[in-house]
Parts: sequence; structure tokens; C-alpha cells
Amino acid sequence: MTRTLGDRLDEATTGLPAPLAVVDLDALDANAADLVRRAGGTPIRVASKSVRVRHVLERVLALPGFAGVMAYSVREALWLVAQGVDDVLLGYPSVDTGALDALAADPVAARAVTLMVDDVTQVELAARAADAHGSMLRVCLDVDASLKLRLGPVVAHLGVRRSPVHTASDAGALAAAIARRSGVDVVGVMFYEAQVAGLPDSSPAVRAIKRLSIRDLAVRRAAVVDAVQSAVGHELTLVNSGGSGSVESSAADPVVTEVTAGSGLFVPTLFDAYRSFTPRPAAFFGLDVVRIPGQGYATAFGGGYIASGPPTASRQPKPVWPAGLSLTGREGAGEVQTPLRLSGDADLRVGDRVWFRHAKSGEVMERFAQVHLVRGTTIESTVPTYRGEQRTFG
Ligand SMILES: Cc1ncc(COP(=O)(O)O)c(C=O)c1O
Repeated sequence: MTRTLGDRLDEATTGLPAPLAVVDLDALDANAADLVRRAGGTPIRVASKSVRVRHVLERVLALPGFAGVMAYSVREALWLVAQGVDDVLLGYPSVDTGALDALAADPVAARAVTLMVDDVTQVELAARAADAHGSMLRVCLDVDASLKLRLGPVVAHLGVRRSPVHTASDAGALAAAIARRSGVDVVGVMFYEAQVAGLPDSSPAVRAIKRLSIRDLAVRRAAVVDAVQSAVGHELTLVNSGGSGSVESSAADPVVTEVTAGSGLFVPTLFDAYRSFTPRPAAFFGLDVVRIPGQGYATAFGGGYIASGPPTASRQPKPVWPAGLSLTGREGAGEVQTPLRLSGDADLRVGDRVWFRHAKSGEVMERFAQVHLVRGTTIESTVPTYRGEQRTFG
């Protein structure tokens, strides 16, 4: 008889105290292979914010098809380089002058790390740090990949609010300003098309926006690359695009040299409704039932791990095993205890273990010091999370 996921995780973690986090290695390996297949030969940079477990980052980087980390903080990048990672692209700008100074002072880190910029003020901070140490810092331009739809007099902005650099001429102007400054070198451009990569394609409207965005970017990426190359007078070595939800469309553009993916490894609940790939949930957390408040209910210890973003029901964790459990509307996932409503055949006793999935990928790891890596019904290893290594970056 095939064992259910819940049975396997229960058996693997018998005797271990909860709350506890697990990663199912068979699902993780299959998700990594699927990302590589979808990228069709374009290297994948792994987004560390969507993992936040150094061991898992290193495991994925060892696979053919993955190259480099997209980090979210300069201090994190410095730490990863000190641990042996040799290619780190910051996904976001930084004004942390202490960290920039440490980066400029360390020749190995300065070679391995590329900063993200979209404003001359960020550039100036990096350049001052570089000047102070006589070094050169690598920078990448963050280009707004949102879709701007002109509807009569109104321009609709479809996507996230990030970089002010949208057009080829915006990018060329910023690149020219950077080229005039010592201490900084433009090595690439990044486009993160959140409205393609970060939205499930469940509705026809979203699918239409995705199609329009892909068409817009196919033209705009190439124009931006041309404008930046002529402003700096040399070829760019890095054109990054996308996220887990857009791997194939981002990789299909011939100017793109690499795609980014992170959430596609753990596959949290916000990634369940994508048509572009088959979600295989790989990360779970287990809570133990500590009391039965009445018939049809059970209360587990822990659980209030709400994901970032707009505060909607979709940001709550989801009980997935045993089947037939749901959060209550009044209490949701609680601060230190979570009441669950039971339906169908669901039956829970004090001491039973319940398995949940988080809405987002790496955030849940901030709640745990360690994560158990499970293969089948056994724990292959237990490794620290970023938090377990006393590393909290953002
Ligand atoms: C700059 C950037 N690139 C890529 C991604 C995609 O990450 P993931 O694959 O985890 O969705 C994100 C996610 O927010 C991002 O901010």
C-alpha cells in the first residue's frame, strides 16, 4: 500500500518535538529538475529569499542548470561569499553603507557580488565605498518590467512598484551617469516581470496580461540592452529576468542570459494555481494537537505564520494533512495556538501531528532554527535555517 504524505512525514519525525519544519527531498529534487527543464538550457539563478536555508541553496547550486544566487541583502551576500558562493547578484538596491564598505574592502567579495541599482543616489553610495578602498564594484540596473497600458488619458500600471527605470532611454541615461563615475562598473540589467512570474494564471484576464507583458518585454529587453551597452561602451555579461512562474517565457528571449527561480523549489500554496508547471509541494511544517475544544475541533500548538503581502486569506498557512481540516474564520492561524475545524472523516486526538503548508516559500524558515530533510520515511539530515545560523537579513 502506498503511504500518504502525512504518514511518511509522521513516521520520519516520530519523537521529534513540534512545531517543526521539513523539506521532502524527493519533491525538492523533482521541482529542481522541472525548473531546469523549463529553462531549456538558460542557467537558473536561485533566489535565496525563497529558500533561506544555506544547505538547500548549496545543494541546488551543485545541480547542473543552476548557477549563482540572487540574494536580498548585501550582508547576506558577504556571508554567502565567505561560505564559498562565488556569484551573488543582489535582487534589490541597498543603502547600507557599512555593508557596502565591507564589500569594497574585500577583493574576493567585490569580484563575486553584483549590486542592484535604479537611482544615482544608490550608485553614489557604492562608488564612495569603492573609492575609499581603491576598488571597483559591479552594478546591475533594475529595469521596471511592469506593463504600462495606455487606456485613453490614463496609463494603467500592471505589475509591482519597483524601479523608476522603464524605457530604453531611462536605462541608457542611468547607465551613462554610472559610466561617468569611478569605482562602479555596469555589468548587467535585470527585469522582474512580477505580473507574469508571480501571478497564478487561473483567470482569462491574468492570462491576457501575461501575453501582453511577454510581448512588451520581448521588444523592451533588447532595446534596453542596446541602450545600456552603447552608454557604457562594452557588452553586458548579465541579462537576468523572471521568477518561478515565468521561467519558460523569460528564458525564451534570446537576450536573456539567466533566469531567477526560488519558489519553484518549495512550491508554497500561492504557487498552486499555475498552469505553466506542476506544483509539487516540498516544504511543510508540523504542529501537534494539544487540546480538543469541542466536537469537530482540535487545537494545535503554534502556527500563526502569516505570509507577507496584502492581508488576505490566501496569506494564511493551509492545513494539508490529515485531510478535512480548515482554519476557523474567527481565529485563523493563531499566535501560539491554532484551532482547526474538522470535516468529513477527519479525526484528531491530543498528541496527533498536523501538517501545514505556508503561503510563501522562504519566509516560513524564519520561524524555525532548523529544518529536517526527509527522504521517504527517514530524515536524511537536519540543517540550520538562516535563522538557525543567527542570520536575519530582512
Ligand atoms: C528580483 C526578483 N527576481 C526574481 C524573483 C522570483 O522569485 P521566485 O522564483 O521565488 O518567485 C523575485 C521574487 O520576488 C524577485 O524579487
